[in-house]
Amino acid sequence: MPAIVVSSGNGPPKEFEGKITVYVVICGIIAATGGLMFGYDIGISGGVTSMDDFLEEFFPAVYVKKHGAKEDNYCKYDNQDLQLFTSSLYLAALVSSFFASKSCTKFGRKLTMQAASVFFLVGVILNAAARDLAMLIIGRILLGVGIGFGNQAVPLFLSEIAPVQIRGALNILFQLDVTIGILIANLVNYFTTNMHPWGWRLSLGLAGVPAVILFFGSLLITETPTSLIERKKLDEGLAMLKKIRGTDNVDAEYDEIVYACEMAQKVKSPFKNLMKRSSRPQLVIAIFMQVFQQFTGINAIMFYAPVLFQTMGFKNDGSLLSAVITGTVNVLSTVVSIVLVDKVGRRMLLLEACVQMFITQTTIGVILQLYLKTNNNLSPQLAIVVVVMVCLYVMSFAWSWGPLGWLIPSETFPLETRTAGFFFAVSSNMLFTFIIAQSFLSMMCHMRAGIFFFFAGWILIMALFAMFLLPETKNVPIDEMTDRVWKQHWYWKSYMDGEESDSKNKIEDGVDK
Ligand code: BGC
Repeated sequence: MPAIVVSSGNGPPKEFEGKITVYVVICGIIAATGGLMFGYDIGISGGVTSMDDFLEEFFPAVYVKKHGAKEDNYCKYDNQDLQLFTSSLYLAALVSSFFASKSCTKFGRKLTMQAASVFFLVGVILNAAARDLAMLIIGRILLGVGIGFGNQAVPLFLSEIAPVQIRGALNILFQLDVTIGILIANLVNYFTTNMHPWGWRLSLGLAGVPAVILFFGSLLITETPTSLIERKKLDEGLAMLKKIRGTDNVDAEYDEIVYACEMAQKVKSPFKNLMKRSSRPQLVIAIFMQVFQQFTGINAIMFYAPVLFQTMGFKNDGSLLSAVITGTVNVLSTVVSIVLVDKVGRRMLLLEACVQMFITQTTIGVILQLYLKTNNNLSPQLAIVVVVMVCLYVMSFAWSWGPLGWLIPSETFPLETRTAGFFFAVSSNMLFTFIIAQSFLSMMCHMRAGIFFFFAGWILIMALFAMFLLPETKNVPIDEMTDRVWKQHWYWKSYMDGEESDSKNKIEDGVDK
């Protein structure tokens, strides 16, 4: 049996030789366009659902309410169908990510990404050509299936092809593309909002661009060596590993992948393995990183920024422009995260962001509570303060809970539970995105400014979670998490009792008898 390569100390395992090849970087950039599809969709919905032409055609009741003489600021968009338009996608993504995880194992990451782009494209066509609500919702569901497949396959793909020394950076490329997608969508909406009566069709139709890029791009990129080896294509896997590492000296890494695949195949039920007590810490962290990511309230801003800004008295253009500003802040702050995450560590970013998010959410809540009544507008000065607060809030999210919600779940699981564990992260993201998307407008109608205090309350809880239950994983090689992280943690170490140091023993423990 080939030897496992064990890394020693901080940094990459010395036995792994490999350059950062142009090919691996190109593969990473192309695959990350899956994030672009996800982001474009997040950013486009809010603008489209505040366009009059769109509302008049599909949601006439909302249109009438929006233009009603005595409408309530906080309730004018409260409509279950309108929210269903935004949120149906996430429910579809939630269900499909389960099948996507199976597809990743059986057919490979590359084919799963291609399937993602095809589902997404069909959804785009239905949306852009929609004649009635049914076409619109079915299109959204297909977009959701595309996103479920993409979000499961892309981060996995990126982690597997990345040389160990840039795995973090390549992983956050996904989130960077999410933020770029959101920004592009905001810009598109800014221009299409004045194209009557079909601007919304263009907004929805342009979602096809990242899908086409992903489809054709994925014809050029490699399948991951892990997936090839997992599917018994050993020679191909070895050749591909040499190509992406830019060296023939890949034996150590190859042996490790072969060994890991052999062991993983012995675990007949990764999901059962995941339910063991010793998997609890990683599972809890993966799920809660995503639950908390959504309870920062970020998508209340991302989906509904234009709606929110209109509520505060900005006219249509002004509100989309504000959304463009927050979109730019989102992209730039994600770059900050790429630069800092391996220097200052995950916990520092998360905790700092909690302070910044708590202050900004509370300030917005106080301003709206005091000055935004049922039928008035905020004064221009106060409206600017709110936009600045929203930017400071988005900034802190973008260098913390945004990228780390995806990064940490992908780096804490041992190999035998990594894909099954990551499925829990993806599906928790989709479930809680759905909950927020479906309920935010109604919550705003009933809780009014209190909605911001509601999210601020969650931020306190997540700060305590990060402070006491989240260990630092910066610079810890993935295969040493058990020893160097979980066994050292004041609370989680009790879950590791009897857990052997090396992954070999742990895997054999979980093998179904
Ligand atoms: C989250 C999305 C969010 C986006 C904002 C992602 O990490 O999963 O829900 O809209 O970040 O940039």
